[in-house]
Amino acid sequence: MAKIIAICNQKGGVGKTSTAVSLSSCLSLEGKKCLLVDLDPQGNATSGLGVNKRNVEKSVYHALLEQNPISELILSTCVKNLYLIPSNDALSGTEVELVGELGREARLRKALQSLDPSFDFVIIDCPPSFGLLTINALTGAHSVLIPIQCEYYALEGLSQLVKTINLVKDNLNASLEIEGIVMTMADFRTNLTQEVIDEVRKHFGSKVYKTIIPRNIRLSEAPGFGKPIFLYDKDSEGAKKYKELTKEFLLFNVTN
Ligand SMILES: Nc1ncnc2c1ncn2[C@@H]1O[C@H](COP(=O)(O)OP(=O)(O)O)[C@@H](O)[C@H]1O
Ligand SMILES: [Mg+2]
Repeated sequence: MAKIIAICNQKGGVGKTSTAVSLSSCLSLEGKKCLLVDLDPQGNATSGLGVNKRNVEKSVYHALLEQNPISELILSTCVKNLYLIPSNDALSGTEVELVGELGREARLRKALQSLDPSFDFVIIDCPPSFGLLTINALTGAHSVLIPIQCEYYALEGLSQLVKTINLVKDNLNASLEIEGIVMTMADFRTNLTQEVIDEVRKHFGSKVYKTIIPRNIRLSEAPGFGKPIFLYDKDSEGAKKYKELTKEFLLFNVTN
């Protein structure tokens, strides 16, 4: 059975998609069989893996609303061992359409129950909101990985995220845990970055990964080429740090 991790933060632009694509591709390159689920109607994870959204016929929409078998939705990617359930424009209406459906919060969980057991990890890239798509991710996941950008308002909104996680725990998914918190886009030339890191560590202690992802131009370029950082520039600082993060992640997730 795969371990399912939702990459979640209701803020946009904090590094969710970069973390989802980088972590899942690094795990795959290390030999773990992974599925990346693109749950954001913007489809950045889909295009970040070189899949053209316009050519996507079936997306995660078909799992949530049409309840198609998940095996019919899985695509292979440019990375060995990494598979994708893509997003496309159809997903943008999903939250509204799901409202009237039975078991609307647990559609993704239900879909993932029939996932081939040879998968080691499922990584879900969440949209930047607390709608039904994110609730589906949190209901279907074993844990949540939270990227936080090293900026002034980093902690703002975090208490709301923790509240939402606790609500899901109380009502829909009792065993949901916080996998970890990763600080992203750090710029160590500014005092602010260190202050924010200290502040987040004070609040979340050992949940915060030791590895900090720096601001790195190569990381921002890679999606434009439809490649994860390890295929775009494996010697970049961004690639090195995401590899370190993956090692740290694996310390807490021993598989065989
Ligand atoms: N460590 C980083 N250094 C530089 N640019 C980054 C880094 N992480 C993400 N980016 C860029 O910042 C933007 C937002 O990141 P993204 O991962 O898409 O965030 P989210 O999914 O939370 O909206 C994207 O253009 C991305 O390429
Ligand atoms: Mg994103």
